[in-house]
Amino acid sequence: MYEPTPDDRFTFGLWTVGWQARDPFGDAARAPLDPVKSVHKLAELGAYGVTFHDDDLVAVDSDRDRAIASFRKAVAETGLKVPMATTNLFTHPVFRDGAFTSNDRDVRRHALRKVLRNLDLAASLGAQTYVCWGGREGAESDAAKDVRAALGRYKEALDLLCSYVRERGYDLRFAIEPKPNEPRGDILLPTIGHALAFIGELEHPEMVGLNPEVGHEQMAGLNFVHGVAQSLWHGKLFHIDLNGQHGPRFDQDLVFGHGDVLSAFFLVDLLEHGGYDGPRHFDYKPARTEDAADVWVSAAANMRTYLILREKARRFRADPEVREALRASRVDELALPTLNRGESLADLWDDDFDPDAAAARGYHFSHLNQLALEHLLGVRG
Ligand code: GCO
Ligand code: MN
Ligand code: MN
Repeated sequence: MYEPTPDDRFTFGLWTVGWQARDPFGDAARAPLDPVKSVHKLAELGAYGVTFHDDDLVAVDSDRDRAIASFRKAVAETGLKVPMATTNLFTHPVFRDGAFTSNDRDVRRHALRKVLRNLDLAASLGAQTYVCWGGREGAESDAAKDVRAALGRYKEALDLLCSYVRERGYDLRFAIEPKPNEPRGDILLPTIGHALAFIGELEHPEMVGLNPEVGHEQMAGLNFVHGVAQSLWHGKLFHIDLNGQHGPRFDQDLVFGHGDVLSAFFLVDLLEHGGYDGPRHFDYKPARTEDAADVWVSAAANMRTYLILREKARRFRADPEVREALRASRVDELALPTLNRGESLADLWDDDFDPDAAAARGYHFSHLNQLALEHLLGVRG
């Protein structure tokens, strides 16, 4: 039980298991990992696919063509899919003031070339989602960045990339990944809400959606489940980065479920029952304390936790007491339109409504929440 298979659609970034645990205070604590080895290990563990930044491929072999050829061979041998790819627009110091929104126009042109080159590779590997995480797009001081101009350049970049994909006839859509801060003091498009509003201003909004990450919304004190639900409601949940985070602090990128576990439970419930059919992508970092073998233990833990939560969510939904509690809390009543078909505002005046009597009715949410918690804790079902 809880053994992952490719049908579960679990995917990992090469940069997750391959993270060498360099942080602002310490050097690398693990040796570089050959992407070919990662592909084989992930396949062995039951993953469905692998994702990459352009620069991840040259982790151990600096000959780009050879590195790409070995990666291609490994995915072909293992049958792993490559559903998503992305660009590293943050490590090289040339991007210290951003990529698409750097004040330096030459840097912006260089960033576009870097993405174009990797888009061709992504398409040739069958990727359907191209993530844009603007880690360096931002500022530390308000004097440094004309945010309105920066948003104009951000839009320009995405419009150009969309037109390139259309011209080439690639089956690719873009997914913006919001994050409030780190590495920049303030990152542009800091939350799901900001990114959704931005997408509406693009030339091809239908080609651009979101890749929200658990920890990034929680760093801002926001409710990730609500953010994902709103993304689904807008038809914009193109991809998702699953991991763990303990509230507002630096980006922890913990194993999925190793942060706010109750939120992880409701997230899995939403993904499983809310119509999301994309990959379940883990963007975590094996902690710096972990050795080379622990990396694979932590990778497996992400998938196992997801499967446990999926089973818990299924039992929660099937529990007759939960169904009764949902009814008592009138959760389903919210799906009823407030006006009946054919009614108009004038009909509102016909209601025989006593606000004091309605105010006296409780919603019994604590009972419902306790049932969820007890399912999660394993004392029910
Ligand atoms: C982070 C981000 C990154 C991106 C990745 C894809 O906080 O470091 O989540 O891991 O997801 O770079 O562009
Ligand atoms: Mn992160
Ligand atoms: Mn991420």
